[in-house]
Amino acid sequence: MSMKVPFFNHKQSKESYQFPEEAAPEHIAIIMDGNGRWAQKRGLPRVAGHKEGISTVMKVVKAAVKLNVKALTLYTFSTENWKRPRPEVDFILKLPKEFLHLYLPELISNNVRIGAIGDMENLPAHTREAVQFAIDRTRNNDGLRLNFALNYGSRHELIKAMKEMYADINNEKLSLEELDEQHVSQYLYTAGMPEPDLLIRTGGEKRLSNFLLWQLAYTEFWFTDVLWPDFSEKEFLQALEEYRQRKRRYGGI
Ligand code: FPP
Repeated sequence: MSMKVPFFNHKQSKESYQFPEEAAPEHIAIIMDGNGRWAQKRGLPRVAGHKEGISTVMKVVKAAVKLNVKALTLYTFSTENWKRPRPEVDFILKLPKEFLHLYLPELISNNVRIGAIGDMENLPAHTREAVQFAIDRTRNNDGLRLNFALNYGSRHELIKAMKEMYADINNEKLSLEELDEQHVSQYLYTAGMPEPDLLIRTGGEKRLSNFLLWQLAYTEFWFTDVLWPDFSEKEFLQALEEYRQRKRRYGGI
């Protein structure tokens, strides 16, 4: 049954929610790292960390909805993650279905629109179908855009874009002389979305791991040692607060 309770009550918010909505980034991208270590620290199998990670996703989605963030893009499964042991891959690829089974009604009540970026065709049918169902079901929502990066790799995305651009130039749909940054952006999975303003990476590593290389050109980065399953609204607001202090100059002075 669909829950009709919004994440956020605006009357209540005035007293209890401190961060000014207008200072929030429009688009936040997150590399959700540290699930395996979280589980191993507790003597649990690595996959227990991934399972715990889905409730963190929901906490962050709720916080983003409260702050009127326009888009949240989560690195859920990379093109390199296929190198992991098969049982772990299978487990991770079941999580979108599990997440949506648990939370889709609540996401719908809160006007969230689901999206996906990545090579969906090469995912198992159950993953693709669960995500596609959620995409179709939330198509007309105009609140938070929640994008799952699934079988996503930035280099793969750029090569795909280059091939499509080459074909369109050959077919004279695109002119080589006029090709500019806007055109390239149109050929990416993220076409039509604003570029991320803030990238958060949990789990202590400070690298991009083939995530949104083109789109992050002017994004502010925020790293934390906190492992993804332990990440909470507190750290999320801390990241937003630091983002608010940054001066974005886009190469100017
Ligand atoms: C990286 O941690 C995490 C992943 C590869 C999987 C991310 C998936 C989730 C957080 C589940 C959420 C999914 C949905 C669909 C809501 P790691 O395993 O590399 O951690 P480690 O660095 O400690 O080994």
